Amino acid sequence: MRVPPAVTIVEVGPRDGFQLVGRVLPTATKLRVIRALYDAGVRDMEVTSFVSPKAVPQFADADEVAREALRLTDLRASALIPNLRGLERALAAGIRSVTVVIGATDAFNSANVRMTVAQSLDQLAVIARAVAGAGGEGVAIEAGIAVAFGCPYSGIVPPDAVDRIVDRAAALGIVSISLGDTIGVATPTQVAGLVERVAGRHPEAHVTLHLHDTRGMGLANVLAGMDAGVTTFDAAIGGLGGCPFAPGATGNIATDDLNHMLRGMGVETGIDEQALLASGRLVAEAVSPDLASHALRVARGGPAR
Ligand code: COA
Ligand code: ZN
Repeated sequence: MRVPPAVTIVEVGPRDGFQLVGRVLPTATKLRVIRALYDAGVRDMEVTSFVSPKAVPQFADADEVAREALRLTDLRASALIPNLRGLERALAAGIRSVTVVIGATDAFNSANVRMTVAQSLDQLAVIARAVAGAGGEGVAIEAGIAVAFGCPYSGIVPPDAVDRIVDRAAALGIVSISLGDTIGVATPTQVAGLVERVAGRHPEAHVTLHLHDTRGMGLANVLAGMDAGVTTFDAAIGGLGGCPFAPGATGNIATDDLNHMLRGMGVETGIDEQALLASGRLVAEAVSPDLASHALRVARGGPAR
């Protein structure tokens, strides 16, 4: 099995995690969690989402959260955006790394961002042009493909639905591709297969895996992804996460479990396990007591599940 010397963990708890918490969190709480994660060594973090506050009230404070997070030295803070308006807000707040979310199926994409896949791809082009027109230096765009493996509305997603998005992104010069298992249906062979397919068609692509642990396949899928050459994984502290527009979606792979596994395998992540567990305890107290993370449950002295 291929085990890389180092892996980048992108903490997405403040975005994917907070969006499914049943109440709007105080901005100060979000910033405390972001700070605790940073103190644990996290340097890549999706800190918020510049979406319509009518669609997701949780992120009405995106501008303030981003601005405050960017005060943390060397934090590579990114944000999710659905459209040009999101880009404009993100850039105004100082964000230099955006993930444009595009669902692989019309049914999911319409529920999520009220656009067909074709319309979202046109937005992607508009966003790429706007970044280039603004000079573009230092602004990174990632195409974040949601429901890349399975869709809560349309079922199995054929790989050419993913090809279509990756091809258009590549034509726009976007090489960062995130493959999202939004509803946690993928198996290790499917993950390795899709990663290899994307890499085979676009050798210049940098693939990130965004995995949800709905069916307990998360870490197995990480291993399959690493074996296929992936070195960047999204994860959420405590195993928070889920999409409000994907019925039944549950949390991302837990950063604390992922970090424990990788460090135990001798893979460098730059994240301190004990400090990370401290940030997990903060999340349990201030955000949600019911966390899926195994590592955190052990650390808190609770029964294994
Ligand atoms: N940030 C803030 N406000 C935005 C916005 C953005 N990125 N994009 C649009 N809006 C505002 C518009 O200004 C408009 O405001 P108004 O009613 O006060 O005039 C309103 O939202 C509707 O704009 P419209 O372009 O018609 O959007 P829509 O109603 O078709 O919704 C999205 C499209 C993309 C804005 C909305 O579906 C969305 O934000 N989805 C995000 C979903 C999400 O976060 N999912 C989880 C992550 S995968
Ligand atoms: Zn997600």
